[in-house]
Amino acid sequence: MNFDIKDKNLAAKGKLRIEWADQDMPVLTQIRKRFETEKPLKGQRIAACLHVTTETAMLMETLKSGGAEVVLCASNPLSTQDDVAASLVVNSGIAVHAIKGEDNNTYYKHINSTLDLKPTITMDDGADLVSTILKDRKDLINNLIGGTEETTTGVIRLRSMASDGVIKFPIIAVNDAETKHLFDNRYGTGQSTLDGIIRATNRLLAGSTFVVAGYGWCGRGLASRARGLGSHVIVTEIDPIKAIEAVMDGYQVMPMKEAAKVGDVFCTVTGNKNVVDKEHFELMKDGAIVSNSGHFNCEIAIEKLAALSKSRRAIRDFIEEFTLSDGRKINILGEGRLINLAAAEGHPSCVMDMSFANQSLSAEYLAKHHKELKNQVYSVPGDIDRNIAALKLKAMEVNIDKLTPEQEKYLASWQEGT
Ligand code: ADE
Repeated sequence: MNFDIKDKNLAAKGKLRIEWADQDMPVLTQIRKRFETEKPLKGQRIAACLHVTTETAMLMETLKSGGAEVVLCASNPLSTQDDVAASLVVNSGIAVHAIKGEDNNTYYKHINSTLDLKPTITMDDGADLVSTILKDRKDLINNLIGGTEETTTGVIRLRSMASDGVIKFPIIAVNDAETKHLFDNRYGTGQSTLDGIIRATNRLLAGSTFVVAGYGWCGRGLASRARGLGSHVIVTEIDPIKAIEAVMDGYQVMPMKEAAKVGDVFCTVTGNKNVVDKEHFELMKDGAIVSNSGHFNCEIAIEKLAALSKSRRAIRDFIEEFTLSDGRKINILGEGRLINLAAAEGHPSCVMDMSFANQSLSAEYLAKHHKELKNQVYSVPGDIDRNIAALKLKAMEVNIDKLTPEQEKYLASWQEGT
């Protein structure tokens, strides 16, 4: 088996941590058990480009149980958990090409090694796999029956590929499922981003001014959790509707140029570039902490900060301190990469359970229905989404009401008024 990981000796530790994650992923467990007997992915070769975490390990096991051959690489150079990569190789016989801290060349080398599988299905988190195929590995297109995409940024990129007419196989946008973004993006990003910032800095958030850039599902979750820890939260937005929502949720809303002057801790979750830019660094307070939890590291203009600085040094794990020519210090966390995965462990298993249930069932859907699909971006079918919610509720031992026949009839009619 061809693989490239940091150290096979980390496998025992990885195995235990994967087992711990598995204990909080009941929906995926049920799917895996069904896959073991039904083998709906028999004959499929799945190339996955995902954050290499304990939860992803359980997804890989599930796909393998379904009969697929699976190869995994990282979807971010700094998010790999090396012990998990080792366990997948040593204990599960799954090829992994990922090393935490790999440089850009190695990152793309690993993507290409994964694509050497000649996949029938791609599983992306950020669309680097699909964009590499479309740019450099067009020879692989004929084998592909479809792909899935995990994250907001990836879906935006894929929709732009679709509108340019360059997409050559159907993609299922897992991020669009309600059982994905309402929980993973909101509660997962909310908690794990604060976990990453706190692990990196060990600073008290109570009483601090915390600036959240972007009020999508990730921003909503992050703002609510930062407020829960006692921060005074400021939101910056470009969308007027989301901005009103943030105001009515009780946050102060202002442009980044104003927030830059007062923030103690900043975190970008916009999916756009240069959200914290030169003009903002120029206004920041001495000691400001700047981080990103959006998919790519382009949200913070770090090179422009470097150009403004007379020196830079690593002051702690995951903190680089830049000293500006006027003596102010600005701290960048985790090289501006997803702080929840760089300095912490990503979203907790409980929410990844639903995200990866969507991934598994979308792969099964592609295997069954690919002949009916066009080369475009699809949402996860609604019945899959609702079924995952029902399974999760059952696992949580939460019961809900059912419509009575009378209520069903009422909802389907228009005659009855006041
Ligand atoms: N994205 C965010 N958190 C994650 C996790 N725990 N595993 C895989 N992908 C993630």
